[in-house]
Amino acid sequence: MNDESNGSAAGFPETFLWGAATSAYQIEGSPLADGAGPSIWDEFCRQPGRIAGGDTGDVACDHYRRFRDDIELMAQIGLRSYRFSIAWSRVMPEGRGRLNEPGLAFYRELAERLLERGIQPFATLYHWDLPAALQARGGWTNPDCAYWFADYAAQMFRQLGEHITFWSTLNEPWVVVDGAYMTGAHAPGQAVPHAVPRVAHTLLRGHALAVQAFRAEGRPGQIGLVVNLEPKHAASSDTADIAAMERAHAYMNRQFLDPVFLGSYPEELAAAFGNAWPLFPAEEMRLIQEPIDFLGINYYSRSVVCDDPAGDFFGVSRVRQDGSEHTEMDWEVYPEGLGSVLRWVKRRYGDLPLYVTENGAAFNDPPVAGGRIVDDRRIAYLRDHLKAAQGALRDGVDLRGYFVWSLFDNFEWSYGYAKRFGIIGVDFATQQRVLKDSARFYAEVIASRGRSLPDL
Ligand code: FCB
Repeated sequence: MNDESNGSAAGFPETFLWGAATSAYQIEGSPLADGAGPSIWDEFCRQPGRIAGGDTGDVACDHYRRFRDDIELMAQIGLRSYRFSIAWSRVMPEGRGRLNEPGLAFYRELAERLLERGIQPFATLYHWDLPAALQARGGWTNPDCAYWFADYAAQMFRQLGEHITFWSTLNEPWVVVDGAYMTGAHAPGQAVPHAVPRVAHTLLRGHALAVQAFRAEGRPGQIGLVVNLEPKHAASSDTADIAAMERAHAYMNRQFLDPVFLGSYPEELAAAFGNAWPLFPAEEMRLIQEPIDFLGINYYSRSVVCDDPAGDFFGVSRVRQDGSEHTEMDWEVYPEGLGSVLRWVKRRYGDLPLYVTENGAAFNDPPVAGGRIVDDRRIAYLRDHLKAAQGALRDGVDLRGYFVWSLFDNFEWSYGYAKRFGIIGVDFATQQRVLKDSARFYAEVIASRGRSLPDL
């Protein structure tokens, strides 16, 4: 990657996919409209005490009805790609079998209109909203869920493959296992740590079977997996803290990538789960290694950890870095970590095409004044992370695109609407949208292919 030959400072490649990301339950609203079935998030939000403020995704950004106007906003920013997810129970109300034509029509029209505006649809098949009908059969704790997922994926390739050529199977399987089954903070809210290895394995089997289904359809396009990664740093040089760091690293960063690229789970996990660690059949381990076209990486922060028998399941606790800047999620702002994870993936798993599929920050933005939302801290966050991405590109990482999380302020899972990640502000009472200053900043970055970033 070298485009300095034209005499200007190095920018990003011409083909770089500049995007923004969302997910279905977080923005669409109308989750039960036009024949859709409920998802585990619909049910979870109804359980008292689960979501801050008792919020739900019933309305969210009302994107299901306003998507045509929303695409105009994307075009105004100059996005080259839009990463969204398909709500499984909108297109297959029972999770299996019968398709719901109005649900499919929504995603078909969304993709068509994006393409008309020169915006590449980048679709995620599973962003956590399992059909409730499948949860009733055990959800991801049932090994058959891998087949249900692959059947649904195959249908989507057939129904939407004419317009959508970028697919990812799962969004952040680590959060699925950790949120849903380790801590229970996410739907379906079951804190049963010993289910984690089997759930992780079923997710990976479903992922691999979906990739095989994509290949079998023979359609043009690319398919990959999206994981969240963060550097784990030991709080001290004590061997106990270093071992704790390795356990945290194995659990979050290697649990899914080691089996996909290296064919085995990290030994640290087997040790931590002890007797609860299953014997996984060799043919399933081979299946999981089904080659993918790209890896998507969601990056937000790092974590500094120490050994703590009273800490999490792995005997690990986070050590907050009080001297650092933190976002409203209490996540440390640590831009160099983005470069580190990109380089680490290349070193450990090989030189495959990478996308930063999510990166962004929740801050308490000032109110709209004179039609503007002045979100300088978000601009600084994005600027510094884009510079880190640029550094990785210069070091030879095959980075093909970058997606801001998120296009809109939206439903931030158990935090409800309290955390605002958008580069477009949403007034949830009126559904009015306002491009924040960060959206204008991002528009300039896109238009100049990164040359507007300082010090590039
Ligand atoms: C990621 C999720 C996304 C959003 C951001 C803040 O873990 O993929 O839906 O919640 O975090």
